Amino acid sequence: MCGIVGYLGPRKASSVLLQGLRQLEYRGYDSSGISILTNKKIKIYKKEGKLANLIQEVPEKLNSPLGIGHTRWATHGGVSDTNAHPHISYKERVAIVHNGIIDNFTSLKEELIEKGISFSSDTDSEVLAHLIDYYLDEDPEVAVQKALDRIDGTYGVIALFKDYPDILIGARNGSPLILGVGDGESILASDASAFIGLSRQAIYLDDGDMIVVKAKEYKTLDRHYKEVFKQPETIDAQSTTISKEGFDHFLLKEIFEQPRSLSRAMGEGGRLQAEFGSAKLGGLNLDTRDFFDIENIHIIGMGTAYYAGMVGSQIIERLARIPTQVLDASELRFSNPIVKKNTLYLAISQSGETADTITAVKEIQNKGGRVLGIINVVGSTLARLTEGGVYTHGGQEVSVASTKAFTAQIMALTLLALLLGRKKDVPISYGKILVKALSDIPAKVQQILDQAHKIKQIAEKYSSASSFLFLARGLNYPIALEGALKLKEISYIHAEGFSSGGLKHGPLALVDEKTPSVFIVSEGETFEKSLSNMQEVKARKGKIIVITDSQDNRIKTLADDYFIVPQSEEVLMPLLNVIPLQLLSYYIANHLGRDVDQPRNLAKSVTTD
Ligand code: M6R
Repeated sequence: MCGIVGYLGPRKASSVLLQGLRQLEYRGYDSSGISILTNKKIKIYKKEGKLANLIQEVPEKLNSPLGIGHTRWATHGGVSDTNAHPHISYKERVAIVHNGIIDNFTSLKEELIEKGISFSSDTDSEVLAHLIDYYLDEDPEVAVQKALDRIDGTYGVIALFKDYPDILIGARNGSPLILGVGDGESILASDASAFIGLSRQAIYLDDGDMIVVKAKEYKTLDRHYKEVFKQPETIDAQSTTISKEGFDHFLLKEIFEQPRSLSRAMGEGGRLQAEFGSAKLGGLNLDTRDFFDIENIHIIGMGTAYYAGMVGSQIIERLARIPTQVLDASELRFSNPIVKKNTLYLAISQSGETADTITAVKEIQNKGGRVLGIINVVGSTLARLTEGGVYTHGGQEVSVASTKAFTAQIMALTLLALLLGRKKDVPISYGKILVKALSDIPAKVQQILDQAHKIKQIAEKYSSASSFLFLARGLNYPIALEGALKLKEISYIHAEGFSSGGLKHGPLALVDEKTPSVFIVSEGETFEKSLSNMQEVKARKGKIIVITDSQDNRIKTLADDYFIVPQSEEVLMPLLNVIPLQLLSYYIANHLGRDVDQPRNLAKSVTTD
């Protein structure tokens, strides 16, 4: 779960690498490092902690046309300068950066130690540097191939060579690697965002591919090391600009961006069909008649994407009456899933690089299942792997905690549910009501954001609590889970989400005067039951915070604090209810002085499993 970058060209490599790492830091920020070639010598600078620490280390005058860089999320070996990448080989002829996990590193390490090679880090990656050097009597391409043939596991890797100052060699298996083809320069990276300002032409490597890169040319090889031609693709320029736009944190900016990102998720209105009360999703690659054959839908994802799937599954079942399940991708991949012809699989992911989701998709596809993607990052691994789907168009999400991607995922699933629903039981009259309600959502989100100061007051009042409960029913139940995830992720406060109905089956034991319970309550079928659940908490002296669209006085009496969101159609309420919860987490975390954009132990994209 790291970011890697390599550069070869007329610019100062160290500057390009540091700029690239800034873009890739979301993939891990435990340590970072660069390696460059000067005066026929490999030089390495690496530092524990954020990229800012490395930038201070790297001399301004360093001049070299090629180098490699890495930003780390620690797996094997603690967070330290020595475990930071790049790693240099025992004869100091090879330096590598690696993203992934080498499963058989213990046996390889023992073998290399027996040959007299000593190790300076606790990482799995270091074996790769030594192995390549060990085979380097032949040309570097063959040495890399021989080393890779010994490896079990996943890798995105870039190697530079002391005696070959005009090449970099990269390879990919399970971890992304993309070549940016510039004008007389080449940049290899885990993510196209590292190409900022350098190239809009990209070569996407597939698993098993290897690439030999020079400044002005490149050669791609397949898993059998047979040369293959890969056509450069034009990348989305929008995804390359990152700025806080005046906000204190990316997270706050991304929360406030949701009226815009939700509009984009609706194709600025182009995905809504007012005339038919339906939705239009061009990328599904499904024939109209295919819709009639769908008997089940299985949604797969992790974390916040999984919770978006939980919301989506309920909306699909309500509107389209198609049985829909949500599956944890990390569990599914080991469950020997029963894949059926008329089941449609939807893989949800912001990054499109989540290893658990990718592996689950491959398992389903291997069994002949049809998988569509609900993906944010255009051209990502999942976007390329799936047979079609819906881009969520949330825009680049930088903060580790997912916010605008979540609402864009729910929006995409809602549009799909409406489309499927209209092919089944949803009458045009209700379809039109939904289309109108959907187009009103961005303005309603804005109304909530305009009252952020009220949430801030509530947040500061409760920020000393050491545990929170989030409770809801039905469509809001996944919102309770997401609210709890957000709070624990960025504030490090223990938080759990439960169904309100499940409260008295155990979690009620946690309630006391110090544990706030956040209830998410919408008008509708479960409203009265939710009031009873609040009574149960009140009776145990628990503090109650309510997020609701109701003006019912009983809520105002029961709640210690409440926030009223605008009303909408019941199926759309999750999109509104989650906004105050995102703000609550942000303001609590910020009040506690947490690193809200890059919380401890985490990374934006979980590319190892
Ligand atoms: O990129 P993905 O949407 O596939 O990521 C899935 C989860 O890792 C992600 O949603 C994670 O739970 C977030 N950090 C939560 O805010």
